[in-house]
Amino acid sequence: MQSTRTDDPPLSERTGAQSATQVVILAAGKGTRMKSSLPKVLHPLRGAPLIAHSLRLARAVTDALPIVVVGHDAQAVAAAVGQGGQCVVQSPQLGTGHAVMAVADHFAATGALPPQRVVVMAADMPLVRPETVSALVEEQTRSGAALVLLSVTADQPRGFGRIVRDAAGEVYAIVEEIDCTAEQRAIRELNASVYCFDGPWLWQAVRQLQPNPRKGEYFLTDLVTVAVREGRRVKAWMGEAEESIGINTLADLADADAVLRRRINRTHMLNGVRIVDPATTYIDLDVEIEAEVQILPNTHLMGSTRVGAASVIGPNSVLRDAIIGRRCRVRQSTVEEARMDDDSDAGPYAHLRPGAHVCAGAHVGNYAEIKNSTLGAGSRMGHFSYLGDATVGANVNIGAGAITCNYDGVNKHPTVIEDDVFIGSDTMLVAPVTVGKGARTGAGAVVTRNVPPDTLVVGLPARAIRKLKAGS
Ligand code: UD1
Ligand code: CA
Repeated sequence: MQSTRTDDPPLSERTGAQSATQVVILAAGKGTRMKSSLPKVLHPLRGAPLIAHSLRLARAVTDALPIVVVGHDAQAVAAAVGQGGQCVVQSPQLGTGHAVMAVADHFAATGALPPQRVVVMAADMPLVRPETVSALVEEQTRSGAALVLLSVTADQPRGFGRIVRDAAGEVYAIVEEIDCTAEQRAIRELNASVYCFDGPWLWQAVRQLQPNPRKGEYFLTDLVTVAVREGRRVKAWMGEAEESIGINTLADLADADAVLRRRINRTHMLNGVRIVDPATTYIDLDVEIEAEVQILPNTHLMGSTRVGAASVIGPNSVLRDAIIGRRCRVRQSTVEEARMDDDSDAGPYAHLRPGAHVCAGAHVGNYAEIKNSTLGAGSRMGHFSYLGDATVGANVNIGAGAITCNYDGVNKHPTVIEDDVFIGSDTMLVAPVTVGKGARTGAGAVVTRNVPPDTLVVGLPARAIRKLKAGS
């Protein structure tokens, strides 16, 4: 077995010191049952890869950097872990027990003492709650058991290991489905693959594991048998059924998504967000919403979206990495990597694309598209129009059907529209071009040259016909 580090280990800095609780996340498996080329732990769930859910859980339990065992597609998984954990490579991947051996080897190689407690969790159990893991840690600390495992009771066993108890009701073994007798197969008390171990015990016990005769893999679950054989205590902490959905297939992923979605919606509602129809409201894990926001049906708030107080979003809207201010209104629209400041509105059927910035009080109406452009404070763009690579000042009116012709087939060019400009309906602004402060364009103008301030231009190509203000 090889065990190598993929990044600089903070562990070596602690050499000689014994850390209290170390979390180990098992993420080296391929996830064959997903039937996908993407490694299982990189499949997204509510806007974050599975592995990010485990890292978040680990952080809730201890400040110490978690160790992530990677193997299958190790580089991609390590990239997703980033600074959030320290990766240890398990190669080849010979089972969950073997994965923990890789971590024990890694500790031995750095000369670090075993941690007092080691929490091991599979990276495919995203619904386990932080309170539950903390309870396992407390129970292990209190009881001194060799291990405390998380047990869940669920109607659907999803191929989980069955928890077998002796006549006295003590945990006696975990039997994997392939090894179950018909009687054991009927057991609905399942191993959730989250454990808190006595650290020094784990480091030596894991070396006693033998490969499972049927599968040839080292099963972490066989440590229960090792502990029972040594007369050490094994305790089970009962989790909630909702925590029992492990991700082995894409069907499991959808089940977990439904549970997590309900939890996220509920948290926002308890924080004062009015969600009219939770069943059709899809909010990612990292979205932030202030109180008194209203979310109307069939709305997706994705990625790092933030919504300010008293805004109304939806129905039928998709916001991804959007920053929405206070008292904004977004109706049947798509907002991606874009920003709307306080009291602005968009839609119905507007599309704010990356780099769009709608300033305070500005109005974006139906069939409007904005990309990499600023629409200044109080400006209005009411009807089917396009702004690309444009800077629009304050108090500007963009007429129906007006567009920036920002692309000449080779390059993109900027358009500048200064404050208080009136762009007539169906104006073509052929970039690069600047329309000076207070200027106007006539309906259907094709503007190919800069327009001085306070000037009216009309025609094709647009020519100045009148000064709008004496002296300018
Ligand atoms: C495992 C448990 C089972 C439990 C179930 C709950 C064992 C033998 N079985 O089964 O009792 O009910 O989880 O979810 O532990 N992994 C590695 N290296 C490996 C193999 C797996 O890091 O060599 C990782 C996987 O990436 C995964 C986790 O360990 O995150 C669990 O592996 P998986 O193959 O999904 O185990 P299960 O068959 O679900
Ligand atoms: Ca699994």
